[in-house]
This record gives sequence, C-alpha cells and structure tokens, in this order.
Amino acid sequence: MKELNRIATTFKESIFSEISRTANEFQAINLSQGFPNFHAPEWLLELARESVNENHHNQYSPSSGNNGLVHELSEYYKRFYNLDYQTNEITVTAGCTEALYCAATALLNPGDEVLLFEPFYDSYLAISQLAGAKAKFITLEKPEFKINASAIEKNITNKTKVIFLNNPHNPTGRVFSHEELNIIAGLAIKHDLFVISDEVYEHLVFDGKRHTPIATLEGMKERTFTLSSLGKTFGVTGWKIGWACGPEVMTKALRNIHQFNVFCANHPFQFAAAKALQKIDQYIPEFKKIYEDKKNLFVNSLEKSELKIIKPEGTYFAMAELPAGKSDVDFCLELIKEKGVAAIPPSAFYQESNEGSKMLRFCFAKDNDTLNRAIERLI
Ligand SMILES: Cc1ncc(COP(=O)(O)O)c(C=O)c1O
Repeated sequence: MKELNRIATTFKESIFSEISRTANEFQAINLSQGFPNFHAPEWLLELARESVNENHHNQYSPSSGNNGLVHELSEYYKRFYNLDYQTNEITVTAGCTEALYCAATALLNPGDEVLLFEPFYDSYLAISQLAGAKAKFITLEKPEFKINASAIEKNITNKTKVIFLNNPHNPTGRVFSHEELNIIAGLAIKHDLFVISDEVYEHLVFDGKRHTPIATLEGMKERTFTLSSLGKTFGVTGWKIGWACGPEVMTKALRNIHQFNVFCANHPFQFAAAKALQKIDQYIPEFKKIYEDKKNLFVNSLEKSELKIIKPEGTYFAMAELPAGKSDVDFCLELIKEKGVAAIPPSAFYQESNEGSKMLRFCFAKDNDTLNRAIERLI
C-alpha cells in the first residue's frame, strides 16, 4: 500500500475517548464532556421540529448559508457588539469546528507559523499541522493564566502568520481583559498577523463581565476571523451550526474551502437557528443565570475538597489544582475508579509545559442533581 497522509497518521486517539470509556465502565458521574446533560429549551426544539416538517427546508442551502440566518447574524453582531458584518462577510459552517478548519486552511501555507496559547483547544494544532504550518506555544501560566506581551513577542518570527485566540477560554475559564486583548491586537498589527478568534463561549461570562470580540478593537476587524456557534449558547452542540465572520477577501478564501468541504451546513437547523437568534436578547439573561448558579454551586462546594478550584470567569469549565506530587492522568483514573467521578486530564491541552499534569478540568454544564451527587463524592 502507498503511504497515507503523513500528518493524519500521526494523530492519535485522544485521552478523552479513554476517559469516556473508563467512565462508562465504572458508571462514573461524567463531568468530563463539554456539553449539557439537560434539555435545551422546549421552544428551541419546537423550532427544529417545525423546520424539518417543511419539506423544502430539507434540501441544500446556499453554500455560504441560509439567507435568513446570515441576515440574522449580521443584525446580531450589530446589536450585541456594534460590529458591522455585511452578509458577504458571514459564512454559516458545520459548527465552529468546521469554521476553524476553513479559517486555518484559508490563511495558511506550508512553512507558515502559528501562535497557540496553551492550554489550547486541541483542534487548533491539528488543523494548523494539516495546513503544513508550524505551531509555537505560549504557556498561560497557572493559576492566573494571563496573557503576557513578551512571551508572545519572543515567539514571533518573519514566518508567523496567525494567532489563535479562544475567548472566553476553554479550559481555563479565563475571560481576557481589555488590556490583554490590546496586547494581542497591538502585536497583530505591528507584525501584520491574522487572528482566528474562537468565541463559542461568548455568552458564558460571569460576575457581571461582558465579552469583547477582539474584532471590535481598532485595526482588528480587517485581520480577524470571528468564529462562534449555536452549540454552547443554546445547549445544542449536536446541531453543528456555526459561523465565520471576516473581511470579504478573507471570507472569499474561507468560502472556497467550505464549498469543497461540506458545501453547506445542515439546512433545516439553519432555519431554526435564524428564528432562535430573533429571540436571543430575551433568552440570554435566563441562560446566564442558570450557568452562573451552576458555577457558584460547583466552585463554592469544592472549596471543602482537597482539589484547589481555580474560579472561572467564563465558560462551563473549571480547572482544579491537584495535591502536590499527583499527576493528572493517574489522578483522573483513580477518581473514576474510587470516587466514581470523571474529569479531563488537561495535559492533553498542552504541548510544551507540563503544568497541565498538575490540574484537572471539570465541566459543570450538568443538571443540579448530577452536580450535587458529584460534589458529595468529591468533598
Ligand atoms: C473552544 C472550543 N471551540 C470550538 C468548539 C466546537 O464548537 P462546535 O461544536 O460549534 O463545532 C468547542 C467545543 O467544545 C470548544 O470548546
């Protein structure tokens, strides 16, 4: 047999699959997976049912997205962030995951370099490598996980092209401050870099904080892909409706990839997504309250445990520092087998630093009964 793709064959089964398998085997309470175990709002599910019943919704949409949804997204960015994305600057994708792939492939050539803040969402490295780019890593040091200008600048070379930003940040729960976003913006402008900004947790921000898309900073809209999706905000990760917004010239390249990748995102759920966005202003306060309560319940209760929780500012994840001398994968497997609770060993989100092996990541997007049972076992 001839050689398969050299990069694809280096990707391994992730630790997440091993954890899920072991969690199932020991019937552990699963706080590892990044999605809710409770129902999405009934009105939203009804929108999907109604949409599927319309026969013509069940065929392809335009490749760049259903016109109604693209229009609603344009309105949404204006209303929420005063960001003016025209319809020719918006592409509907198969979740943010496909938006990330298309954005990276649209920008990168073999030999280019990308900057990743570690811990990082694992797809950023894989898609950069598939595009032939080399990744450089900037460790956000625990427990503050702060962005630091000199740590970024010393990794910039004349080959650097893209900075991946995830804000609010999985897995640390950081919501980067204006000052930190200004550091990234300043360096991106100074060195003429693109930013791929993954904002899927944009509405999961706590304690009165507000999310700021980096594209709203002066000089940034013209060099940024702003990506997000419906999955986290509406609790429907399986719908896989996401989007990418960026200047027309960048969007054209992204759409070229998207048309030969999936052609279009699933159409009936795009109609439902458009209607959901019409209701998002009323929905968000209630959504935020549900998650803020879950965050408080989990974080405050775990103060009594041997795990030192790092309070998240956003997302539905919380990192916890392990007792000295423990390492994440072993601790995780022990926790499943002995206490019946599954978490994620975050070393999987690091490439250079070994800080990840001293922590665990918990997902608190679970119904209160599940959370309370897990807390009882953890404290
Ligand atoms: C940071 C981040 N980006 C993207 C995604 C995937 O988004 P989607 O489900 O819309 O593809 C996730 C899912 O966990 C995520 O945590």
